[in-house]
Amino acid sequence: MLKTQLLTENQHDLAAILLAKGEVVAFPTETVYGLGADATNSEAVLKIYAAKGRPRFNPLIAHVESLDAAIELGHFNEEALTLASLWAGAITLVVPLKSKYISEIALAGLNSIAIRVPNNATALNLLCAFKKPIVAPSANRSGHISPTQFSHVYDDLNGRIAAILQGEVSEIGVESTIVSCLNKPVILREGGVPRETIEALIGKTESVTSKTIIAPGMMLAHYAPNNKLRLNALSVEKGECLLNFGVNALHAPHSLNLSPIGNLSEAAQNLFSFLRQLDKLNQPICVAPIPQKGLGVAINDRLKRAAH
Ligand code: TXA
Ligand code: MG
Repeated sequence: MLKTQLLTENQHDLAAILLAKGEVVAFPTETVYGLGADATNSEAVLKIYAAKGRPRFNPLIAHVESLDAAIELGHFNEEALTLASLWAGAITLVVPLKSKYISEIALAGLNSIAIRVPNNATALNLLCAFKKPIVAPSANRSGHISPTQFSHVYDDLNGRIAAILQGEVSEIGVESTIVSCLNKPVILREGGVPRETIEALIGKTESVTSKTIIAPGMMLAHYAPNNKLRLNALSVEKGECLLNFGVNALHAPHSLNLSPIGNLSEAAQNLFSFLRQLDKLNQPICVAPIPQKGLGVAINDRLKRAAH
């Protein structure tokens, strides 16, 4: 077991030193906390897979501090450049690989690379201090619910990683939207930037169906709580706790409301944290219907995976 160092927000220089030594360090982003390693160091990258128990065929997102740094890693076509105007932000672009220095293990052998510039001061301070790309999946054990708070990372990974750089609660609360820009743009994963925002910039985009899995990590069973999840509940059954949304007639002895005022951004921010809290009650969880628009699409996607 490792002794996991708990670093305060302003200790990003120390976190960068640990990364340079080939250690893995969890850090905050505006979507979810990431588990970072030096993108050019395969030994370090292997430690991410080991700490998470992540299958090796599932590639990692490279985080950089600017578009200039991103362009050194991949080839950006016109649509990719247009979408990159949403950086810093919750969108990841998959582009043809250009750099020769990225660990093949991080890429899982693909000749494309997923890149994101996070919109979080602590993450950007860390990237600027480290001066190299940091590959990072979400900082949870593989298959668990993604972490949106320092304490979630601690619960999942204490003793398995070198350090956790502390930060605020993740402002957005669901992972980035992933858009493949290899040919015609395809949304591989719904996420923090709604489809509407993307289509306003580049027009109608396709999305993957469960039959044509292009993102290797898009297996359905994911984000799973330990207890059973029932979606689109119109009533609460005996013994269930409730993950509610907005104003309705649903009541349960144990219930949390993602957003009493029916705000989807607030609901996304609370989603993983509330799922973790309800899961601790060891009861089946029923979930109120969430509108399938804007961030609601990403929320429903994560809930569907959690219920699978
Ligand atoms: O918001 C986020 O995206 C967070 C924060 C930490 O940045 N990261 C995150 O990483 O959610 P992860 O590893 O949990 O999900 C990354 C997804 C995986 O499903 C992986 O298969 C896909 O990105 N991916 C990575 N490289 C890819 C590539 N070259 N082509 C297609 N999909 C790729
Ligand atoms: Mg993940």
